[in-house]
Amino acid sequence: MLDKAVNYIEKKTNNFKPEIGIILGSGLGDLADEYCDIAISYSEIPGFEASTVSGHKGRLVFAEINGKKTVMMQGRFHFYEGHSIQKVVFPVKVMKRLGVKTLIVTNAAGGVNAEFKPADLMIITDHINHMGVNPLIGLNDDSMGKRFPDMSEVYTRKYVELAENIGKNLGIDLQKGVYMAFTGPSYETPAEVRMARVIGADAVGMSTVPEAIVASWAGMNVIGLSCICNSAAGVSTVGLSHEDVIKAANDAKDKFKRLVKEIIKEI
Ligand code: HPA
Repeated sequence: MLDKAVNYIEKKTNNFKPEIGIILGSGLGDLADEYCDIAISYSEIPGFEASTVSGHKGRLVFAEINGKKTVMMQGRFHFYEGHSIQKVVFPVKVMKRLGVKTLIVTNAAGGVNAEFKPADLMIITDHINHMGVNPLIGLNDDSMGKRFPDMSEVYTRKYVELAENIGKNLGIDLQKGVYMAFTGPSYETPAEVRMARVIGADAVGMSTVPEAIVASWAGMNVIGLSCICNSAAGVSTVGLSHEDVIKAANDAKDKFKRLVKEIIKEI
């Protein structure tokens, strides 16, 4: 299936050969509207499935941004949609086979760290996998990565520093911290958020970790960026809604795009 998807995409894109992959999270898909040389609907690609979350378009977009060839996922596959964890990470394997060296993975997240405010951006320095599943379970594809991959530096340290410096230069305040993945689709309870804080998380969300594990396993550099869309349950007194999450992502969109474009330029 991987071969089929890669062949299909290479044919459709005339061997575009992207070097940077970008997974655009909830409300952050705009970048792929702004830059779009070739778009392929997920429903056309062997092994891909249609995205079921509103606010996600469901297409692969190929574009040159600041002189770099990129492939963007406008919408991702979430585990909570009922996809197998293998389906969730399939596009990352496809990107690897297309020649992607660096994956920029973005998401909307809830702030666990009390210092974080809605519409803050956070550079992910590490993660906690609390999804109860690992995307590398099953037969190991030795052509892509090792059976027991080291996860000491999933999020490439020199790129964390690069992103921090870019933030400073652009005058964009950036937070830094640990992202913890739950399966969703229910938001966390206040007790779960307290647990997340105690074990070292700064933000909670429902994605990113499976994709980052596979990218790291496959030898890609990884840059993780969270848009903190709300205070996680119990951190503030207001309840959570998907609408508020999308609104905060919208408020952060412009600085998010400026940051990502500059990162693309510098890597
Ligand atoms: N929890 C989990 N996922 C999220 C949240 C949250 O509070 N906000 C946006 N995505």
